[in-house]
Amino acid sequence: MSRPWWHTAVIYQIYPRSFQDTNGDGIGDLPGITSRLDHLVDLGVDALWISPFYPSPMADFGYDVADYTDVDPMFGTLDDFDDLLAAAHDRSLRVIIDWVPNHSSDQHPWFRESRSSRHDPKRDWYVWADPAPDGGPPNNWQSVFGGPAWEWDEATGQYYLHSFLREQPDLNWRNPEVEQTMFDTVRFWMDRGVDGLRIDVAHFIMKDPAMRDNPPADVEPTEFKSLGEYDRQDHIHDKGHPDVHEVFRRLRVLLDGYDGERFAVGEIHVFDWAEWVRYYGEADELHMPFNFSLLFAPWDAAEIRSRVDAMEAVLPSWAWPNHVLGNHDEVRLIDRYGGPERARAAAILLLTLRGTPTIYYGEEIGMRQADIPLDRQQDPWGLQVPGQGRDGCRTPMQWGDPFTDSEPWLPMMDEPTVAGQRTDPDSLLSFYRRLLTLRRTLPDLQTGDYRSIDGPDGVYLFRRGESVVVAINFTDEDRRIDLDGEVRFSTDPELEAVSAEGVVLGPDAGVIVVT
Ligand code: NOJ
Ligand code: CA
Repeated sequence: MSRPWWHTAVIYQIYPRSFQDTNGDGIGDLPGITSRLDHLVDLGVDALWISPFYPSPMADFGYDVADYTDVDPMFGTLDDFDDLLAAAHDRSLRVIIDWVPNHSSDQHPWFRESRSSRHDPKRDWYVWADPAPDGGPPNNWQSVFGGPAWEWDEATGQYYLHSFLREQPDLNWRNPEVEQTMFDTVRFWMDRGVDGLRIDVAHFIMKDPAMRDNPPADVEPTEFKSLGEYDRQDHIHDKGHPDVHEVFRRLRVLLDGYDGERFAVGEIHVFDWAEWVRYYGEADELHMPFNFSLLFAPWDAAEIRSRVDAMEAVLPSWAWPNHVLGNHDEVRLIDRYGGPERARAAAILLLTLRGTPTIYYGEEIGMRQADIPLDRQQDPWGLQVPGQGRDGCRTPMQWGDPFTDSEPWLPMMDEPTVAGQRTDPDSLLSFYRRLLTLRRTLPDLQTGDYRSIDGPDGVYLFRRGESVVVAINFTDEDRRIDLDGEVRFSTDPELEAVSAEGVVLGPDAGVIVVT
């Protein structure tokens, strides 16, 4: 069976502000990414996803888009983008861009027009509503970033909806002109040769048309939630309305109208598997919704196994899974999972489970969560809700040679670095490289079936296809496994090329066994 490229691809996420600066303003840019593409080739990934680089007032660092079909001068020009795309394609790297359909910037000309008068033809391009009888917001919806999701507009006497910052008004996807125009922005990039889209908060675009209040949450906050007003509600009306699926079916027709190779992955924070899997449609919606279930998993074999098994169980046979262990919104992986000793085991997990993995830049060298002093903090979420700031995972890439020749936009750490790890065979970078090479040499690691196996307490054991078994010890004690086969790869080089019979896995150790 011939498979689409994104089944076997490993995606690498780049936060463009933090990858490489080329013009000395302390902020990464598109020519900077181009200049660093060989690192991706050397690492052995297949695709890059670049967080937004569109013109933007940067209230949410580019997730507030003021023009969907251009490049912010801070990041370069459209020509720079075309150069980047060509340079990536020359290296057989696919390019995925970030598409932000739920909201634009409040500085987007569409919103400026919409806001100018109740009778403006673009009024209905955004979600406007009259005040409640008491003059307050139309309903109880909250902004993810804190406070009510409604902003009063004095001049026109109505509220507008912003599910995120007030500088990010929600577009009204129930207006066919909005869909048509936003789909045109997708065509703009697809025509340039972009390989795929990462769709920002994809499930948010459709809300309850009657805009009913959300009921109170009847569950205790889980590890996905920090307790704030937002988390006290059950978000059944302010996002994820079933009509969203029709939009994605139409988007899929648009993408399939190219060459059948254009891909869409949705950022969908839905943790009810039955609801989550609906975003695949009948193979006619998104190619995949991101699977965030391991992001917040405790470092516990049984818990991780049960999440992976649950996801595998809910997928139709044709649907392709994926796994995410980190991104620009979450605490760096090794700090989230409990320390650098776990980085290698986490890499084995991410790169040997069935499905498309996404690596967040810097994970391959073990970049840590940075502690950013208050006076250097930039993330509006953190400035609005203390503790929620995401700057710590967005610090500049540590190349070992300069990221910039001026002051970087966020403080950066000196260690570890790419240069320091490149030629060291025992480094984390070499470990990632070897693991990615193995993934390409063992087809079962890319496409083999997944089946979990009972093993010693605290060890997650699973089979990939007929030939591969993976074992990871999530405990802080030794665990012995007995398998028929040879250890082909391990967190502990001494275990490699030995029989997997009676192998002892130390704390946080993992092995890939070929049977
Ligand atoms: C999700 C993005 O990942 C995050 O960085 C952004 O702030 C929100 N969507 C709003 O666009
Ligand atoms: Ca720059």
